[in-house]
Amino acid sequence: MDRGTRGREQTLRFLAAPTDAGYLGNVSGGRVLEWIDKAGYACAVGWSGRYCVTAYVGNVHFTRPVSIGDLVEATARLVYTGRSSMHILVTICSSFPNGTHAVQTSQCSIVFVAIDESGNPVEVPRWIPVTMLELQRQRQARVRIRMRRRIERGYTAGGADSLTGWTNASADRASPQLRQPPFCTSPGPR
Ligand SMILES: CC(C)(COP(=O)(O)OP(=O)(O)OC[C@H]1O[C@@H](n2cnc3c(N)ncnc32)[C@H](O)[C@@H]1OP(=O)(O)O)[C@@H](O)C(=O)NCCC(=O)NCCS
Repeated sequence: MDRGTRGREQTLRFLAAPTDAGYLGNVSGGRVLEWIDKAGYACAVGWSGRYCVTAYVGNVHFTRPVSIGDLVEATARLVYTGRSSMHILVTICSSFPNGTHAVQTSQCSIVFVAIDESGNPVEVPRWIPVTMLELQRQRQARVRIRMRRRIERGYTAGGADSLTGWTNASADRASPQLRQPPFCTSPGPR
């Protein structure tokens, strides 16, 4: 099932407010991540018509700062759909409020999963690339999926995340004593 062009791209437009500023006066990275999540969510919900959760955020590049008062455009584009997942590329651009001097300030890959009322993943409409650029983005998304799987296999070799010591969620539930990462050992008797 393909839904044509409807919902394959969403753009949020707004002004960067003083409350978005970080310590150095420009917009904070955390606020930019929030915009990325919101734009991606709008795109995922628009495409699937379902409630969606963020499953993965990665490949974030902050290339230029966003100034307070700038006009911000957060554009989220579908680049791949699996059975229940939607892989979305979000680009943040900013310009003077009159629209001049527009620059791309950050980009991020984000994966949303459509869920039902019980929180279980549900099937989403298949996205089919139409333009050459979309086809290229889909190929890049597939490469990223393969690379992520290889990295995750490396992390989980031996049953626990080799960098943090945390286990995956199901192992967590099965074995509460494994919840404590090695760097949080409880102090012994004094
Ligand atoms: C995302 C979530 C629903 C997946 O549930 P699950 O039981 O692992 O389901 P599955 O293993 O069947 O995976 C479902 C899909 O999610 C994808 N997925 C799950 N974790 C992923 C990750 N870390 N990165 C990329 N894709 C992921 C799977 O590839 C699969 O895609 P497909 O259906 O297109 O093949 C579940 O892990 C969850 O609820 N996570 C918490 C989400 C959350 O709280 N987000 C922050 C607030 S919105």
